[in-house]
Amino acid sequence: MSLKFSDFVLLLLFICFSSPTLAHNGDDPITRTMEEFSGYPIHESHSHSVSSLSVDARSLQKQIDELATFSDTPAPSVTRILYTEKDVLARRFIKNLMGLSGLSIREDAVGNIFGRWEGSEPELAAIATGSHIDAIPYSGKYDGVVGVLGAIEAINTLKRSGFKPKKSLEVILFTSEEPTRFGISCLGSRLLSGVEELAKALKTTVDGQNISFILAARSAGYAEEKDDFYSVSLKKGSYSAFVELHIEQGPILEKEGIPIGIVTAIAAPASIKVEFEGNGGHAGAVLMPNRNDAGLAAAELALAVERHVLESGSIDSVGTVGILELHPGAINSIPSKSHLEIDTRDIDEERRNIIIEKIRQSASAIAKNRGVRLTEFKIVNQDPPALSDKSIIEAMEAASKELNLTHKKMISRAYHDSLFMARVSPMGMIFIPCYKGYSHKPEEYASIENISNGVKVLAVTLAKLSQG
Ligand SMILES: *[C@@H]1O[C@H](CO)[C@@H](O)[C@H](O)[C@H]1NC(C)=O
Ligand SMILES: *[C@@H]1O[C@H](CO)[C@@H](O)[C@H](O)[C@H]1NC(C)=O
Ligand SMILES: *[C@@H]1O[C@H](CO)[C@@H](O)[C@H](O)[C@H]1NC(C)=O
Ligand SMILES: [Zn+2]
Repeated sequence: MSLKFSDFVLLLLFICFSSPTLAHNGDDPITRTMEEFSGYPIHESHSHSVSSLSVDARSLQKQIDELATFSDTPAPSVTRILYTEKDVLARRFIKNLMGLSGLSIREDAVGNIFGRWEGSEPELAAIATGSHIDAIPYSGKYDGVVGVLGAIEAINTLKRSGFKPKKSLEVILFTSEEPTRFGISCLGSRLLSGVEELAKALKTTVDGQNISFILAARSAGYAEEKDDFYSVSLKKGSYSAFVELHIEQGPILEKEGIPIGIVTAIAAPASIKVEFEGNGGHAGAVLMPNRNDAGLAAAELALAVERHVLESGSIDSVGTVGILELHPGAINSIPSKSHLEIDTRDIDEERRNIIIEKIRQSASAIAKNRGVRLTEFKIVNQDPPALSDKSIIEAMEAASKELNLTHKKMISRAYHDSLFMARVSPMGMIFIPCYKGYSHKPEEYASIENISNGVKVLAVTLAKLSQG
């Protein structure tokens, strides 16, 4: 695999040095338009520029396939965990593509990667776009990737059309959107958004193998200066807009045959850890009136979660007990300990918080009624939802219309780096359909036609925002 990768790099370098204009264009006939339209601002002739946009779908598909080979499990599955060798190689692949697109590259202490195309007024806050390339074990090759490789291709597409940005355009690769290794989701974007408790916690965070975050980051070439994770946070106003392109990870767009989803809000996730303790005992010897069964307390709480979520009366409220562990876990032993992890989300923060409060009350009441101890009720995270910015929604809608692509406004029920970027920048998201809504498994698939449409909408949106 490393041979394949270095061949690829050499080939690209050869193309780059032997013919600078071909570096971004291959043998694309659009090459000529680059000179013809250079310095031609897109807002002065929108329809012309939009119709001259051409996504290099073949290269983009090749890049998606190539990136998928940096995996710790066999194809078609992809496993790419933060700071592993495969993650480092994948990052190198992305930086190389950014370089070939003429972007200037910067990396921060946790490995968020920024590639900037400087605008004609570089002192103005830039327009950013991007996503993640880490992949949970045995997942697919499109989640996040479409928003990173697609963003670089959107830049290439704009460059080929002769577009020149006023505000700088920046592609961001976010570190560790998935919580796989250190249990923290959206690690990179959380830090960028200025979560100081996280910057502090990372200094003592270890993974499942007791490898510290700092050592792992160093092994990937990051965290070299005094473990200063506070330095990652962005100043408010660093960006005037952030737009993320992503597969829907749900079935709606495909089912309705709509190529573009425009996200108006991202649901607010919260997660809670709960533990009950009872006296346990022999499953035969301890009679029913004398028991305090920690397992039954957990079962009752799981049902209470469902009840409280349904009581909200909104289809947007959801709650899940995805982890329920019993100790000692023997058929002839009354559970003496139980451990639950609860995930609850809503697009309405207050409604979501009411559900959390009801779950807390139920946990106490159940413990009391059953004579068990509620030894832990820990809200691990309780993030606020994010609303897309009105002017970015308008830009995404206008872009879809100019490209003759129908669109649908929708809510993102999964969360993304955009949830955190919304704290420091006006935010918007573009969804594209994916096969049966599958994600986080090898069957995850989006057609290159649908990806290319998303890239076009992203390119036109970035162009509009850059000139605004
Ligand atoms: C984890 O590593 C630290 C530091 O190397 C060590 O002190 C600690 O005992 C280890 N913990 C476990 C559970 O292995
Ligand atoms: C691509 O999008 C179209 C809607 O424009 C949809 O009909 C088709 O099923 C999508 N393909 C995939 C693989 O999702
Ligand atoms: C969109 O459709 C209109 C009318 O059919 C056409 O004139 C225009 O060229 C199309 N634009 C694009 C980008 O395909
Ligand atoms: Zn993702």
